Amino acid sequence: MQLKDKVAIVTGAANGIGRSISQLFAEEGVRVALVDLDQSALDAEVHRLQNERTPVVGIVADVSDETDVRNAVALTLKEFGKIDILVNCAGICKMIPLLQIEVADWDRTMAVNLRGVFLFSREVFRHMQAQRSGKIINIASAAGKIGGIAAGAHYSASKAGVMCLTKSLALEAAPYKINVNAVCPGPTKTEMTDAWGEEENETFAAKIPFKEYGKPEDVAQAVLFLASDRARYITGEILDVNGGLIMD
Ligand SMILES: NC(=O)c1ccc[n+]([C@@H]2O[C@H](COP(=O)([O-])OP(=O)(O)OC[C@H]3O[C@@H](n4cnc5c(N)ncnc54)[C@H](O)[C@@H]3O)[C@@H](O)[C@H]2O)c1
Repeated sequence: MQLKDKVAIVTGAANGIGRSISQLFAEEGVRVALVDLDQSALDAEVHRLQNERTPVVGIVADVSDETDVRNAVALTLKEFGKIDILVNCAGICKMIPLLQIEVADWDRTMAVNLRGVFLFSREVFRHMQAQRSGKIINIASAAGKIGGIAAGAHYSASKAGVMCLTKSLALEAAPYKINVNAVCPGPTKTEMTDAWGEEENETFAAKIPFKEYGKPEDVAQAVLFLASDRARYITGEILDVNGGLIMD
C-alpha cells in the first residue's frame, strides 16, 4: 500500500486498460479522478468503485480539448487537493489501410492520442513543478515502435510521438523530481482489440512468443510499479509489456 492517499488522474478510465489501472489504484488506496468521454461507461465505473468505498470522482472530458483538460485538472484539485500521478491512457485506434485514412481520421487520431497527452501533461506539470514531485505515465503502443501490426499508420505515428514526448518531458521534469515514463503494450485484450474481429486476433496472437494477448491487468501492474517509489530513479523509460513481441 505504498500509494495510499496519493491522488491520480487516469484518462480513458471507463474501459479497457484505463479501467484496470483505476481499479488497481483504488485497491492500493489511491484517490482517483477517472476521466473519459464515454459518460455512461464512466458513470458505471465510478458507481462500481464508490460501492467499494473508494474515494473517486468521474469527469467527462475530451482529452484533445484544452478547456476540458483545464477543467478536469481544476476539478481534481478541488476534490482531492493535489495530484501525485497522471496516467495518460485515453486513445483511439482505427484499423484502416493508408488509402482509406481521411485527413479527418489522421487529425482526430493525433488530437486524441498525442495532443491529449501533451495537454494533460502540461496542465498537471504546473502543479507537480510547484509540488516538486510527481509521476506521469503515458500509454504508448508496440505499433509506435515497429509500425502498425494491427493498426493504421496514423495510430502508429501518434504512438511514436507519445514515446518521444515522454523522453522530452522526462528531461524537463527531472530537475523537479518528476518522473515521466511510458508503458508500451503489445496487443492487449480490450474493447479496442475485440473490435478487430476474432480471426485477426488469432492471427496476431500467433505472432506473439507468449501466444496470447496481454490482459489489461498486465499493463496496469507495470503502471503501478512506475507510479510507486520503487521506480524512484527511473525516468524517460519506455517499458514494454508485450509477451516477447518486441525485444529492444
Ligand atoms: N488494447 C491494445 O491492444 C493496446 C495496445 C497498445 C496500446 N494501447 C493503448 O492503450 C490505451 C487504452 O486502450 P484500450 O485498449 O483500453 O482501449 P479502449 O477503447 O478499451 O478504451 C479507451 C478509452 O479511452 C476513451 N477515450 C477515447 N477517446 C477519448 C477522448 N478524446 N477523451 C477522453 N477519453 C477518450 C474511451 O471512451 C475508452 O473508455 C490507448 O491509448 C491505446 O492506444 C492499447
